[in-house]
Amino acid sequence: MLDLLVFYGSYRRDRLGIRLADYLVRNLGERGHKAELIDARAVGLPMLDRMYKEYAPGEAPPEMERLAQRIREADGFVFVAGEYNWGPQPGLKNLTDHFLEEWFWRPAAIASYSFGRIAGARSNFAWHGTLSEMGMIVVSSTITVGPIKDTLDEEGHAIGDAGKSLDRSFPRFAADLEYWAEAGKRQRAERDPPY
Ligand SMILES: Cc1cc2nc3c(=O)[nH]c(=O)nc-3n(C[C@H](O)[C@H](O)[C@H](O)COP(=O)(O)O)c2cc1C
Repeated sequence: MLDLLVFYGSYRRDRLGIRLADYLVRNLGERGHKAELIDARAVGLPMLDRMYKEYAPGEAPPEMERLAQRIREADGFVFVAGEYNWGPQPGLKNLTDHFLEEWFWRPAAIASYSFGRIAGARSNFAWHGTLSEMGMIVVSSTITVGPIKDTLDEEGHAIGDAGKSLDRSFPRFAADLEYWAEAGKRQRAERDPPY
């Protein structure tokens, strides 16, 4: 069993990407993992003022401290990437920027989506560099969902032909993340990271 965090960061009241986040949490759970949704809007970090590490020990706001702890504990991450004007959603980017070393030495997988057929592909691409800069290894497999409304219902269940296509691509995506998360877990048990 792996400890996996699924990050989603739309703050919109009518948001749709939560369907994909719910789909991923449920399906990873069904593969036997502890999969937890980290919803940036629910965590509610402010626009970046101080990074977590800029607080003296024990003085970071409690929600930031709790999240830092969960990130440090996790074996791997999934980023649900929506696309605003060809770029990442600011709510999720703001959350990730609060941390740095906490992310190191674990794999991350990207699942993007959008309202149309482009499926968040440009945001997906942009997240690669960002996650790499933050010390994560981005796995090769990815998921692209679009149009999201034709793929997932409000409870995050796959619907129609697009949903079938998502169901077909999910196992490889999950297996890729699992492989590297397990490898990293074994490596961490054997030796400390070099820095
Ligand atoms: C400010 C804004 C910019 C958008 N820009 C893009 C875009 O560049 N590419 C795209 O495919 N969809 C774009 N969309 C449509 C989104 O894919 C769609 O609204 C999606 O549901 C947003 O994710 P959310 O509902 O989880 O917030 C944009 C939507 C908003 C609100």
